[in-house]
Amino acid sequence: ADPDPLQDLCVADLSASISANNFPCKPLSEVTSDDFVFDGLRKQANFTDPFGVTVTTGNVLSFPGLNTLGIAMNRVDIEPGGINPPHSHPRASEIGIVIEGKILAGIVTTQNVYYSKVLTAGQVFVIPRGLVHFQLNVGPKKALTFTAFNSHLPGSTVLPLNLFAAAPSIPVEVLTKTFLVDEDAINNIKAKFVF
Ligand code: GLV
Ligand code: MN
Repeated sequence: ADPDPLQDLCVADLSASISANNFPCKPLSEVTSDDFVFDGLRKQANFTDPFGVTVTTGNVLSFPGLNTLGIAMNRVDIEPGGINPPHSHPRASEIGIVIEGKILAGIVTTQNVYYSKVLTAGQVFVIPRGLVHFQLNVGPKKALTFTAFNSHLPGSTVLPLNLFAAAPSIPVEVLTKTFLVDEDAINNIKAKFVF
């Protein structure tokens, strides 16, 4: 989904003061072999969020060698019973492979049609660009999935966080009227997303 590159390589200069459609290249004289390797997906991070998922991102921000290449990769660790909650990627389709565990992978289209499948090790799934999707760990053990994207910065709109953990907050009236519930129901949800 990203534009085609116009040069062999363009390792991002993340500290550049000017950015047009993302990052300029750092000088070729400063590029080393290490710029093409990323260790950040090697190990599982700790589960720190209320969902029991850790999404470790290998995008241009964490792996500047991806700059302008139109690709990125994540590691998704989900604890038993945990969920990678409904979210969408505005700039990329996603392809994923289950490495261990058992997940229910679901997609909802813009027509509100729901597709889902229980997947185990070795199975590959695809999420069309921009569609809302989730992964629920339905097995007794930890689930590990690697996902890849056709953007160096796919972006992720995580629906519960977007609506209930935005800063500054979305007015409560917007949420009560959106979900047709009272303020207590909204505040109960919000309280769970104060990290
Ligand atoms: C999984 O859906 C991911 O975005 O990595
Ligand atoms: Mn995703």
